[in-house]
Amino acid sequence: MVHLSSIATALAAGLLPQLANAAGLNTAATAKGLDYFGTATDNPELTDNTYMTQLKNTDDFGQLTPGNSMKWDATEPSQNSFSFEKGDAIADLAEANGQKLRCHNLVWYQQLPSWVSGGSWTNETLTEALKNHITKVVTHYKGKCYAWDVVNEALNDDGSYRENVFYQHIGEAYIPIAFEAAAAADSDAKLYYNDYSIEYGGDKANAAEKIVKLVQSYGAKIDGVGLQGHFTVGQTPSKKDLASTLKSYTALGVEVAYTEMDVRMETPSSSDKLSQQSTDYASLVGACAETEGCVGITIWDWTDKYSWVPDTFSGYGDACPWDENYKKKQAYNGILNALGGSSSARKSRKMRRNMITRGN
Ligand code: XIL
Repeated sequence: MVHLSSIATALAAGLLPQLANAAGLNTAATAKGLDYFGTATDNPELTDNTYMTQLKNTDDFGQLTPGNSMKWDATEPSQNSFSFEKGDAIADLAEANGQKLRCHNLVWYQQLPSWVSGGSWTNETLTEALKNHITKVVTHYKGKCYAWDVVNEALNDDGSYRENVFYQHIGEAYIPIAFEAAAAADSDAKLYYNDYSIEYGGDKANAAEKIVKLVQSYGAKIDGVGLQGHFTVGQTPSKKDLASTLKSYTALGVEVAYTEMDVRMETPSSSDKLSQQSTDYASLVGACAETEGCVGITIWDWTDKYSWVPDTFSGYGDACPWDENYKKKQAYNGILNALGGSSSARKSRKMRRNMITRGN
């Protein structure tokens, strides 16, 4: 039994949303005018019943992204031999729960099978293999993907192109070629360029804008820029800077989304770090919420139990809004408040949009 006094203390400390307006992250996001708030998930976790109960909670998650199972090594492990079982498991889950699906990803230099990364290619043979991969995978998931991350992480941090196998043999044209093939296979999916460290101004963000223009200059369809949003506690840009960068993309006529948000910290955690983490999450979420054309936010899994961070960034962890025992951290309320989840008085973007159209 929960004591009223402990609820009052938690409320006073700002740890709980106001009960009268309590809503989950997705409910608050959609009320604010976004299309979804969602999470990445991965096949090994689907056997964890406690995890699954929360994953299916559409009050918090209106969208899923498969963390690994639609990548090239998973879908085409040997040339022209496709395997969709694991990707299908996540697509089916999203469909059964009524959650949108962001499909991730078609072309990336990592998690590439060795027949691609180590093959002996010419411009022509690699272009054919690239088109074949995209056509088969996108056709298989046709009608199921709200969006596809068509090209992932094509840029170095200084804004130059990564010298990956595609760039080496095809040059920058591999990017528009990939978008053309994806559009031909599913004309309804929103096609995204997705990367990290493009959330704030600088050489890499400028280069991402150039990629949008490059694809457009080929007459190919590009609908969005995905900003991964992997940040570190205390090193997350301000809401103002984040929002101004989002607007530099939407000015090109594309939508934007935070596609892989998490805010890691050096472990062990402390109450100061958890509090700063909540502020950092709120900056990201607030920037999206106030930017026309920012359609949604995805966290890169919701619980520290299954976060990719400790495996990738040695000494870092605790990056998700829920801890490894599935308990909500302060970050959860930081996100919720940034979505207006505890303030029904504030007008949502949708309401404001309607008022503007009606001339109010
Ligand atoms: C990560 C997965 O979460 C890990 O399980 C895997 O080992 C490596 O890839 N940017 C991306 C994602 O676009 O695909 C990555 O996902 C995280 C960084």
